[in-house]
Amino acid sequence: MKKRTVLITGANKSIGFETAREMGKLGFNVWLGCRDGVRGQDAVSLLLSEGIKARLAIIDVTDQESVDGCRADKVRRWKTRCADQQCGYSRNLAHRA
Ligand SMILES: NC(=O)c1ccc[n+]([C@@H]2O[C@H](COP(=O)([O-])OP(=O)(O)OC[C@H]3O[C@@H](n4cnc5c(N)ncnc54)[C@H](OP(=O)(O)O)[C@@H]3O)[C@@H](O)[C@H]2O)c1
Repeated sequence: MKKRTVLITGANKSIGFETAREMGKLGFNVWLGCRDGVRGQDAVSLLLSEGIKARLAIIDVTDQESVDGCRADKVRRWKTRCADQQCGYSRNLAHRA
């Protein structure tokens, strides 16, 4: 079965990070949405060391240009329908950040 992919914002620590970890353990490919590249890469490296398929997406949810850029990048990489769903989810999470 094809692996599903999810983008989680605020994912370099705390609730976002643990959500990424748990979804990774469930078999999702996880994109860690982080505003800081160094903190984000540290978090990605930790999950990779645990066998989780994690990748870094730079996104600042308070910056529309950053959100649009991340969305456009994911549309290029994923099937459009999937990307739309994930970015909608990302925007929902943005409200709590
Ligand atoms: N902890 C709880 O028990 C609890 C319970 C209920 C609700 N909540 C709510 O859930 C949310 C997350 O809680 P938390 O404890 O995980 O918070 P946290 O430890 O402060 O972590 C917040 C995460 O969001 C990131 N972030 C902040 N501003 C961002 C932005 N503009 N763009 C992208 N990422 C951004 C932070 O990245 P940086 O490292 O770059 O700052 C960090 O990764 C908060 O809104 C909190 O009020 C928490």
